[in-house]
Amino acid sequence: MPVINVHDKKFDTYLSEEVIHQRIKELAAAINNDYEGRRPLFIAILNGSFMFASDLFKQLTIEAELCFIKLASYKGMKSSGNVVTSIGLDDDLFGKEVIIVEDIVDTGKTLHNFLPKLEHQQPKSLKIAALLHKKEATAYPLKLDYVGFEIPDKFVVGYGLDYDGLGRNLKEIYQLV
Ligand code: IMP
Repeated sequence: MPVINVHDKKFDTYLSEEVIHQRIKELAAAINNDYEGRRPLFIAILNGSFMFASDLFKQLTIEAELCFIKLASYKGMKSSGNVVTSIGLDDDLFGKEVIIVEDIVDTGKTLHNFLPKLEHQQPKSLKIAALLHKKEATAYPLKLDYVGFEIPDKFVVGYGLDYDGLGRNLKEIYQLV
C-alpha cells in the first residue's frame, strides 16, 4: 500500500476503491429497500460529498431527486465549525422525504447546526447518509441513519475529501500517518 504526500503531510492507504464501492452498494441497497415508492430528495453537501453522492446515486434503482448545497468551509486540519449558511437550496422541502448526503461526520457540529434549518421547512422525513463517521470525535448529538464506515479520529483525504484543497481526486481514502 503506497504512502502519498499531500502538501506537507504523509498519508497511508486506508480504504481501497473496491472496499468503498462495495460498501456504497450496500448502503444503496438499504436505501432502495427503505424508500421504494417514496421518491426521496438527496441533498448532498459540497464540496466533500460530490464523489460519494455520485456513486451512491448511480446505485439507486428507485425514483429519486438530487441537489447539491454548500455550507461552511473547513480550513486546514481542524474543523472551523462555523457554519455560515447554505447556498443552492432552491427546493421547497415541505412534505419531502429528505436524505442528507455528507462525506464525513467529525464533531457533528456542521450537521447539528444545519438540520434545524431544514426541519423548519417541515419535510416529511429527514435522514442522514454519511460515508465516514469519526465516532470518538463526535461531540454534538446527531442520529446517523446510513453510515459507510466508522473510522478512528485521524485526518483522512481522498474520494472527495481534501487537505487544504488537495487530495479530492484520489480514488481511495488515505489516513494521516
Ligand atoms: P464536523 O462539523 O466537525 O462534523 O465536520 C464536518 C466537515 O469537516 C466535513 O464535511 C468535512 O468537510 C470536514 N472534515 C472533517 N474531518 C475531515 C477529515 O478527516 N478530512 C477532511 N475533511 C474533514
